[in-house]
Amino acid sequence: MLSAKDYEMFEIIDIKAREVLDSRGNPTIETEIITGEGYGSAIVPSGASTGKNEALELRDKNQRYGGKGVLNAVRNVNETITPLLIGMDIRKQREIDRIMIEEDGTENKSNLGANSILSVSLAAARCAADTLNLPLYQYIGGLNTYVLPVPMMNVINGGEHAGNELDFQEFMIMPVGAKSFSEALRICAEIYHHMKKIIAKKYGKSSTNVGDEGGYAPDEGGYAPPMKEISEPLEVIMSTIEELSYKDSVKIALDTASSTFYDEKSKMYNAMGKKMDSGELIDLFADVSSKYPIVSIEDPMAEDDFDGFVEITRKLGKKIQIVGDDIFVTNKNILSTGIKKGACNSLLLKVNQIGSLTEAIDTASMAYRNGYSVVVSHRSGETEDTMIADLAVGISSGQIKTGAPSRSERCAKYNRLLRIEEYMGQSAVYAGKNFRIPF
Ligand code: PGA
Ligand code: ZN
Repeated sequence: MLSAKDYEMFEIIDIKAREVLDSRGNPTIETEIITGEGYGSAIVPSGASTGKNEALELRDKNQRYGGKGVLNAVRNVNETITPLLIGMDIRKQREIDRIMIEEDGTENKSNLGANSILSVSLAAARCAADTLNLPLYQYIGGLNTYVLPVPMMNVINGGEHAGNELDFQEFMIMPVGAKSFSEALRICAEIYHHMKKIIAKKYGKSSTNVGDEGGYAPDEGGYAPPMKEISEPLEVIMSTIEELSYKDSVKIALDTASSTFYDEKSKMYNAMGKKMDSGELIDLFADVSSKYPIVSIEDPMAEDDFDGFVEITRKLGKKIQIVGDDIFVTNKNILSTGIKKGACNSLLLKVNQIGSLTEAIDTASMAYRNGYSVVVSHRSGETEDTMIADLAVGISSGQIKTGAPSRSERCAKYNRLLRIEEYMGQSAVYAGKNFRIPF
């Protein structure tokens, strides 16, 4: 199998990790890899409304950066992982990931840290693509990659991502009726800008300040009481798309991140100043989705309310995509339980929840094989790294969740998709209305 030429070209020569900052100003890890003829780097993102079962993000927990430093993770790459991988063939992604996972030896990567392992895993994929002179999405997905995803663009922020009174985390628009990705992005940006005027008029100018993912985070600084009810942001979205005549081409998606307002002891949800049990919350979702063009709800129930997930999927799953984020944490074993029980019909894919590219792709494959759709997603703490754009195209997810266009770390992903679309030329297919089954 080996030729002398291969050996030089594809051999990992060096790996170097360092500490850099993410979009919230918190430290995170960047890793670079070089081979004989290639280079790749990756920066790991970080969540705020994290699932309990996510792989462990190793933080220094000392004086620096309020305990959030990642120098131990950096050291783990430079001193432990690098010697294991030097000399390996960069094309052996699965083997590279396996070696790191084995060296860690824990279920949740708490030894080396999921951030250390993932930074190497993603940098390796990018370095392999560069060495092979292939676009990253094509390295990931091969010949069968032509689907551009529908943006699931978060335009109004609440929950853990904003300092306002909105308990529900994300209100998103999905331009399913666009003809191409670039048209979809234009529609989203136009809506985003027009919405600013509508929010300023109704809720006051300070309500157009933005949250972690760039969506507006309406607060109490305006003329009207702050947004609190789930219907208020939905009304704002509807007025905006109606005024711009996009009513037929734009649908709505929610990520309510319901674990963040669930009380485990009483098994009650506490949102909008009301206490609701599982059934009442499901009724609320049934009600809003009969009034508004909602096509997708992520984490409608808390991660500990597995039965609630099964129930809402049974009730609304035919019409609506029920996406599992905190409940599945991109973990194949947990997804498998969900599939058996009938929880959700869609998987949110966040590579850092599981900590390696191979495992994330394995979880996505399991989802597809069982009729679940896949939404590739950013984290609320992001960076200039655009890997998820290539991943969404590479696995033909048909959907990508990567925030509002007011923040460069989000635009970086959209801009990468624009470049991919241009590169594909006439062969590019926008997932559009087929976002749940785009191929
Ligand atoms: P997170 O939020 O990155 O803070 O977890 C994103 C999401 O819940 O989808
Ligand atoms: Zn989520």
